[in-house]
This record gives sequence, structure tokens and C-alpha cells, in this order.
Amino acid sequence: MKILMVCLGNICRSPMAEGILRNKAQKAGKNYHIDSAGTSGYHIGEAPDKRAIEKMKKYHIDISALRARQFTVEDFDRFDLILAMDTSNYQNILRLASNEHQKQKVKLIMNYVYPNENLSVPDPYYGGDDGFEKVYEMLCLASDKIIEQYP
Ligand code: 4NP
Repeated sequence: MKILMVCLGNICRSPMAEGILRNKAQKAGKNYHIDSAGTSGYHIGEAPDKRAIEKMKKYHIDISALRARQFTVEDFDRFDLILAMDTSNYQNILRLASNEHQKQKVKLIMNYVYPNENLSVPDPYYGGDDGFEKVYEMLCLASDKIIEQYP
């Protein structure tokens, strides 16, 4: 299973999602290939936000070596699943899809926990530490469901 996590900047939510799912997959013995990207090019080449790195460190997951990149249309072929953090990311990715097969790979990550509710993982970039804690908790719930669902 090849899974791509996508947010806007690829420095807060999607690198956290990548780290959390990789950690849980390893513990569950699942052989996933996991990566992350941003729909924007604002932070290409940058490490994750310091607050994201610190939050993850608290839970013993090191994401400091990750570097931001932008989502490209080639990702539709490289991955089986493309998981958007919020509805805006979801719409932006879908707009780049060129056929139904590509569109079907794109899902809102929180729908694994709350099916069909189309909830977003809130962007923590302009807020405080509690935003990052909330993101961590939501992504743990989603990662557990993803691991239950895919071999
Ligand atoms: P992310 O958070 O999409 O979770 O990585 C953001 C990071 C940067 C910006 C917005 C959201 N920004 O506007 O620079």
C-alpha cells in the first residue's frame, strides 16, 4: 500500500500524519510506503514546523528529517491512496486529476473515523500549541482506522 498524506504547506499536518502512520504501521507489521506533500509550493525544501517537530517528539516520533515538497500529477500514479487533511486540499487535488481512477484515490483522511462527515483536520499554523495537540489526536484516530482497513 502506497499512501500519500497531503495538506497545504507540507510542514504541519501532513508530515505529522506521515510520521504517525509510519510509526503505527511499523508496530502493526504493515508494509506501507508513506510520503507527504503540500498542495502549495510555499515551503518547498523546508523541515517541518518547529511546533510540529516538538509535538511529535513528545510522542517519541522524529519527523525532523522530512522536507516539504509540492504535490504533482505524477503522484496520482505513484500512490494507491492520496489522503487530504482538509476539504480545501481535497478540492485542489481533485482539480488536478485527469480521470476517474485518479479521483477515486483521493480521500479526506477524517472520513476513516467519521464516514461521510467530510471533517477537516484544522490548520494549526496560525494558532497555538493546542492546535498541534488536536492535530496529533485526530491523526492517531485516523491512522488506527487506516491500519485496520488495509493489509
Ligand atoms: P500545513 O500548515 O498545511 O498543515 O503544513 C500550513 C503551513 C503553512 C501555511 C499554511 C498552512 N502557510 O500559509 O504558509
